[in-house]
Amino acid sequence: MSSTPWWRSAVIYQVYIRSFADGNGDGIGDITGLRSHLPYLKSLGVDALWINPWYKSPMADGGYDVADYRAIDPLFGTLADAEQLIADAHRHGIRIIPDIVPNHTSDQHVWFQAALASGRGSPERARYIFRPGRGPDGAQPPNNWVSCFGGPAWTRLPDGDWYLHLFAPEQPDLNWQHPDIAAEFESILRFWFNRGVDGFRVDVAHGLAKDPELPDLPHTLTGETDQARLGHVEHPHWDRDDVHAIYRTWRKVADEFDGDLAFVAEAWADTPERLAAYVRPGGLHTAFNFDFLMASWDAKDLRAAIDDSLAMLDGVGAPATWVLSNHDVMRHASRYARRTVKPWVPNVPYLPEGPADLELGTRRARAAALLMFALPGGAYIYQGDELGLPEVEDLPEAVRQDPIWERSGHTNPGRDGCRIPIPWSGPVAPFGFSPADASAAPWLPQPADWNERSVEAQTGDDTSMLELYRTALRIRRDHPALGDGTMTWHDTPAGVLAFHRQPGLTCVVNLSDEPYQLPEHAAILLASGPVENALLAPDQAAWLTR
Ligand code: GLC
Ligand code: CA
Repeated sequence: MSSTPWWRSAVIYQVYIRSFADGNGDGIGDITGLRSHLPYLKSLGVDALWINPWYKSPMADGGYDVADYRAIDPLFGTLADAEQLIADAHRHGIRIIPDIVPNHTSDQHVWFQAALASGRGSPERARYIFRPGRGPDGAQPPNNWVSCFGGPAWTRLPDGDWYLHLFAPEQPDLNWQHPDIAAEFESILRFWFNRGVDGFRVDVAHGLAKDPELPDLPHTLTGETDQARLGHVEHPHWDRDDVHAIYRTWRKVADEFDGDLAFVAEAWADTPERLAAYVRPGGLHTAFNFDFLMASWDAKDLRAAIDDSLAMLDGVGAPATWVLSNHDVMRHASRYARRTVKPWVPNVPYLPEGPADLELGTRRARAAALLMFALPGGAYIYQGDELGLPEVEDLPEAVRQDPIWERSGHTNPGRDGCRIPIPWSGPVAPFGFSPADASAAPWLPQPADWNERSVEAQTGDDTSMLELYRTALRIRRDHPALGDGTMTWHDTPAGVLAFHRQPGLTCVVNLSDEPYQLPEHAAILLASGPVENALLAPDQAAWLTR
């Protein structure tokens, strides 16, 4: 056994379960569907699966509104199915990391139902954040906080009390100063660790601690500011210092169990220093590097995101965790499909200019994959990245389901376009997503030309995104230079990134408009496109040996 824990270099595949594979034909992905595709994931070469929330939920926000943290939603299966999945995955050498949602529950959770039933000032309400309103008749919300999904972060009940929800009204925020909350989540962690899960992805990890005074946001923080560029400003509910005490306890819980469990934080922090605080010794193990995802397709921006992240993480001894796409952002094949790529800013609608040039976006996505997999640390693949799926930008309004669409007054299209069910095989929808005798169409419609992007169509095609991913992951597994470790930049002209990984591997990415003459090398291990006369075309990447 190697002494380096697996999570320092793991490639983790994100399963957005309702869109991965539908086993029972109701048009919604489920655990049975996922189980039947474990051999695919094995052949892709991933180390673990992060599974988006599968708990019992009224699905006001795709399952991020949890009604019972110890039950699987019937749409996805049963607890026994989940246990089977964990066992099957482990037999394939794949670890399982579910999502946990500690910032808020569903409004259907027994605690919130009890809070509603028990009335103003009751101890049941103390588990959430209830307040009287402002103004003579209490008709104004208690403060000016805004929901990430648009509109005020407060909803008023008929009895006059207001409750806080940083997301949808169906997602009331928990009061983490109440001892019941910490105790309950420790018990939930143990419930799943006892069932063999290998860790958790922690949803909205930066949101749990609120300033107890619930002060108004200064007006500078209510607008659409690019916070990352302003540096850190103390905020009444994001990324407060007291949040770390919670995770130090969670780490102790994880450390009670055998098997190298790992947390990954979804934490949005203003600076790399603030992010690194989540993964200090005794805290969470890893945190997504969103600066890399947010960067435009630009050598200087990407290099800065890489350098700043690595410097800060090195300081606390944590590995980097790279990510290009997930279920909350426009897919990178489409983000990169505009000549000028807009940087991504959290909670601001991402509305790229002009039509997508998917040929361009795909070329860059191929290069980005080789860049990401060559960087030190771990990496995440969002289901469908390996098929080069683009964002579906022309979804009919009538089929949109993301609460962001309604709550933004139809100004933000929301996240449905990156959540389209996966095309597996066959010439027509549902492309093998559901069985042939399915009783319902997929919950979101698939574009008619996704037959060309199916797993079946790409398998064995050396020029496909899928085979590029497979080869890259195979090399990454076997090559001692890749995964955890350090990197050294080469001197390169503007627009070109090149770095060395010990021993013997160099990654070169050409983000300029001119072909780039590759440095001296023994062989090209892998390239994102055809290389002739050692010239790396614009928007191409290559892995070289010396
Ligand atoms: C996270 C999830 C997102 C969800 C939100 C509220 O940001 O990734 O999908 O809507 O938390 O739970
Ligand atoms: Ca199903």
